[in-house]
Formats: sequence, structure tokens, C-alpha cells
Amino acid sequence: MVGVALIGSGRMGSFHGETLARRLPGVRLVAVADPAPGAAEALIRAVGGVAAAYPGGVQAGADPHVDRAAAYEDVELVWADPRVDAVVVAAPARFHADLAVAAARAGKHVFCEKPMALTLEDADRVIDAARAAGVLLRVGFNRRFAPDWAAARRLIDDGQVGTPRLLRSLTRDPGGFDPARIPAGTIFNETLIHDFDTLRFLNPGAEAVEVHAVADALVEPEWRDRGLLDTAVVTVRFSNGAIGTAEACFEASYGYDVRGEVLGDGGMATMGDGRRTSLTFSGANGRLVETARGDQELFADAYIAELASFTTAVATRTAEARTGADGEDGHDAGREERRAADREDGHGAGREERRAADREDGHGAGREERHPAGREERRAAGGGVGNAGFAAVGEDARAALAVALAAAASVRTGKAVEVAK
Ligand SMILES: NC(=O)c1ccc[n+]([C@@H]2O[C@H](COP(=O)([O-])OP(=O)(O)OC[C@H]3O[C@@H](n4cnc5c(N)ncnc54)[C@H](O)[C@@H]3O)[C@@H](O)[C@H]2O)c1
Repeated sequence: MVGVALIGSGRMGSFHGETLARRLPGVRLVAVADPAPGAAEALIRAVGGVAAAYPGGVQAGADPHVDRAAAYEDVELVWADPRVDAVVVAAPARFHADLAVAAARAGKHVFCEKPMALTLEDADRVIDAARAAGVLLRVGFNRRFAPDWAAARRLIDDGQVGTPRLLRSLTRDPGGFDPARIPAGTIFNETLIHDFDTLRFLNPGAEAVEVHAVADALVEPEWRDRGLLDTAVVTVRFSNGAIGTAEACFEASYGYDVRGEVLGDGGMATMGDGRRTSLTFSGANGRLVETARGDQELFADAYIAELASFTTAVATRTAEARTGADGEDGHDAGREERRAADREDGHGAGREERRAADREDGHGAGREERHPAGREERRAAGGGVGNAGFAAVGEDARAALAVALAAAASVRTGKAVEVAK
């Protein structure tokens, strides 16, 4: 059983909390931490727990998957809780780096929602802390686990798309946001960062080198003078010559819409159609399709699969550390990460679970051979935060952040900006 603590029980944390409590065999939600009074306890109750006295928090009972979950208002208590093997960080972005560093130092494996950090220095701190502690570090770029995107990447790895020339990734949110609660840079750091990761995911082995961004407040124009950016287009030039565009808008009248495309010399792959179901209704007014209304509707399976992948890797790491299977200290990080990669390639949760069941018999050997050597070597060099199949690790989060920071700088200066190494 893998014991996981959820840190931050808001909108995203609630979905992850339910996944940890109910959707993943072999995983137990052992704690929820949130400084907002009553928030952690409320989530535990919502996923089936019953509150009871517990030192330093509140213990929940009833549901077998959450029967020992503690509600902590002091996040520090998570670090000392021996039942916690791993944490899922879903607090607001500005807290991510410090929380991830503290978790790693306490020896907890880390899954951190995007963005992992807001500066490259903080990103490096997180990567270094995870490496020093020998813990896994994964980041919530869930699109890598969505079937279309994972399938596209497999086509690319198999050589069918050929050398990428043009890439595209876009995000349209359903609107209804409060402009007063949008920190500066959100469109780049929190929204387009998904698209920057996607462009890189679809152009394996290449890195973004130069960015040019145009952005405005077109949804809430009266907030323009206060610095809001709610609509943006970013062009990204890659080290292999490929050109990508990422675009985002905080409001689309028809719901939540994420799409991607890669055109190579061998063919083109397109991802995402924003449809809620595959239903098409034909009637007197023509043909209609229903569109997804929110991220947790469109990407529910991907959000579950990314945590299935993470907790499966934690389970293997924990078991091997216990048996010393990888040597005296049980921490042959490179070998473990390669094994994790053999089990994970961004499939949906069902497949992920089958893979977990297949774990012991070594299926999937050789998958990493299809990954481009350059990136794999860098990942392997990352030791404990290294190669993790299609899952995003610390270095991926840092690379996407570097593009986001360059895009914000490009808007400020009106010029193309080099992406920091
Ligand atoms: N991957 C995705 O598609 C996706 C989608 C939505 C949100 N997110 C990310 O998830 C994170 C949370 O977003 P949200 O929409 O759930 O926000 P939210 O505001 O709904 O929830 C944040 C929660 O964290 C709690 N919190 C505040 N400070 C904390 C601290 N120091 N430690 C622990 N908890 C703390 C708050 O009380 C609140 O309950 C953000 O980083 C966001 O970018 C990712």
C-alpha cells in the first residue's frame, strides 16, 4: 500500500484527493493538509472518511481507503508523518517550490501540480532536493497522459511523423474567472505552461531556443491597465529548427478546449476535438456535437493516469528499498527510473493498472530505446528525478517554465526573447 498525503484541497486537490482515496488500488490517502480551517477535513469527509480525534489533526474513519486519513491545517505535520510515502502538491503555485523541497528533504516522493516553480532558481532547488534525497519528482503535465497526445508521441517515436516542422498547442478555458484573483503572469506560468510542455513533448530531443509572444486582455479589457493578460499567442523556435505556436484564451463560450498538432516530413498528427462524447446530433438545424465544459471533464482519465503512474513508481521504489533489490542501499535511481519508464507511457488509467499488475514480469522492456538519446541521457543524469517514460519530471517542468518566463519577457519588451538554459 502506498500512503499519499494531499497538500492543498481546492479545486484540483479535490479531484486528486478523490483519485487517491477511491480510484487507485494499492493507494491509500493517509493525510490531507490545507491551512484553510476545515478544508482538509471537509475533503476527507467528501471522499468517504469520518472525522475523529487525531494528534495534530483529525483522523477519519469508515471508508477503508481513507480510514486513517489525518486532516492537517499545519502542513509541516505531513513531513513527520511516517505513513506518508509520497505527497501530491496541489496548493497555489507560489507555494509549490518550498513545499516540494520540504517534502523531498523529509524523504517523501513528490508529485507537484504545475508549475513546479515560478523561477528557474526555485526549479533548480526542487530538482536538487529531490536528487539529493533520492525521491521521485513528477509534475502534473496531464496532457502527456491523454490518449490522443500519448498516441501522437508514440507515432513520433516510431518515426511515422518524421522530423517535426510545425507544432501547435492551444488552450481555451471556459471563462467565468475573477480578474482580481489572477496573479500577473498566470496565462504563461499556469495556462500556457501546459502548451509549452506539449510542444516539447511532441518534438522530443529538441529544446525551445527563442520565443516571441503577443498578449492582451481581450476578455476583460478594463483590466488591461492593471496588467491582466487573458489572451495570448506565442511562437517558439526549437533547436532542431521546428517552429511551434501556443495560444490561450481564458474564455471560450463553448467550454474547455485543448488541441494539438504536429506536422513532420512524414505526416501530421492532430490531437483533441473538445468533444464531450462522440455523439453527433443531426436535426432540423443541422449537425451538432456537444463540447466539454471543463478541464476535469475533458481530462478526467489523464488526471487519474498521471497519479496511477506516479504511485506505481512509488510502490516499486518503496518495495525495492525494502528488499534492497537494487543493491545495498536500495537506491539505484537510474535503474529504478528505467523500470518505471518501462511501465508508463501515458495510457489511460485502466491500462496503467494492468501495467501495475504486469510489473513483476518485466513487460515493456526496450521502450526507452525509442526515446531520443539526447533527452534520455539528460534524464538518466538526473538520477532520482530522471527518466520516467512519458511522465513529466523536474527537468521537463524547468524547461516549460523557461519558455513561460521568456514569453512574459517578450510581451514586456515587444521583442523575441532567448529561452534561458
Ligand atoms: N493540471 C491541470 O490541468 C490543473 C488544473 C487546475 C489547477 N491546477 C493547478 O493546481 C494548483 C491548485 O489549483 P486550484 O485550482 O486547485 O486552486 P484552489 O485555489 O482551488 O485551491 C488551492 C488550495 O490550496 C490551499 N492552500 C493555500 N496555501 C497552501 C499551503 N501553503 N499549503 C497547502 N495548501 C495551501 C488553499 O487553502 C486551497 O484550498 C495550481 O498550481 C494550479 O495551477 C492544475
